[in-house]
Amino acid sequence: MREGQALASIADLQRQAEAAIAAAHDLAELERLRVEWLGKKGRISQLLRQTGSLPPELRPAFGQRANAAREAVEAALARRRQALAAQEEARRLEAERIDVTLPGRPVWRGRRHPLRRVEMEIIEIFRGLGFTVAEGPEVERDYYNFEALNIPPDHPARDMHDTFYLAGDILLRTHTSPVQVRYMEAKAPRLPVRIIAPGRVYRRDDDATHSPMFHQVEGLLVDRGIGFAHLKGTLAEFARRMFGPDTRYRFRPSYFPFTEPSAEMDVSCPLCGGRGCRTCGGTGWIEILGSGLVHPAVLRAGGYDPEQVSGFAFGMGVERIAMIKYDIDDLRLFFQNDLRFLAQFR
Ligand code: PHE
Repeated sequence: MREGQALASIADLQRQAEAAIAAAHDLAELERLRVEWLGKKGRISQLLRQTGSLPPELRPAFGQRANAAREAVEAALARRRQALAAQEEARRLEAERIDVTLPGRPVWRGRRHPLRRVEMEIIEIFRGLGFTVAEGPEVERDYYNFEALNIPPDHPARDMHDTFYLAGDILLRTHTSPVQVRYMEAKAPRLPVRIIAPGRVYRRDDDATHSPMFHQVEGLLVDRGIGFAHLKGTLAEFARRMFGPDTRYRFRPSYFPFTEPSAEMDVSCPLCGGRGCRTCGGTGWIEILGSGLVHPAVLRAGGYDPEQVSGFAFGMGVERIAMIKYDIDDLRLFFQNDLRFLAQFR
């Protein structure tokens, strides 16, 4: 009965192996079991090796049974490996679970500075009226900032501008008017000249309504037969587009060395509609710009003959327009970069 005994012991080994495999807790333990049973010196492998030392008549049945046991143990290992892998995957997914219903972290989006918005709005209105944008340097020569604009050295009009002088005749421009002359020099004698010039300007001033750096938009139109009516019509249209269709306006005589005649333009206060409020000082009117017909001396400096052509010019402060439009009472808010202020402009 040696054959029966041998076969029974194979079945026994197989059961032991299968039981151990089914009880394995993780893939590492499973790997140890594979080596124990099916490795080179494994218990099943040794069985197979014994086949050769059996009496020939026993070999086929024994060999077949031992092979079947090896296959069964391999299959048991594969099954358990799959089950453990699935378990581990499930455990990992559980551990790495994320709550997709949590609110996200807000992404801060930048937006345009209120001064840039107002500047762009001014530019768009004048582009719609046929003006193109010109620029000039912020570090400027005395000649363009003053002399060519009919303000000779020692002229009292220089007191209107508390100037930052850099060296010799180099200064920080106190207004955008020098762009008038620079542009005409480059364009003369061609017509028409029809530009706006936005940019930074500098004056030695610092309080609730003055900043040492601020922004202006200059305007210049030169052609044959230009008169005050053209100035008035153009700026009236600007005021309506900027502050609303019901905006009223008035011109008051003024003085600038580079225009003659000169006028300041007021608009009806957009905040109270002209009835009078804190912003307009109870008058119902707010000054928004300086303007006038281009002085003959300035046309000449630009290379044009004042006998042949004429023009108008104007200059406005962007901060001032923005303060009126958004009812802001302190100019310094524009430059403090406080997001509580800046985030209000969308
Ligand atoms: N440059 C003047 C200023 O800064 C404004 C102005 C421009 C006035 C053009 C008349 C014509 O005050």
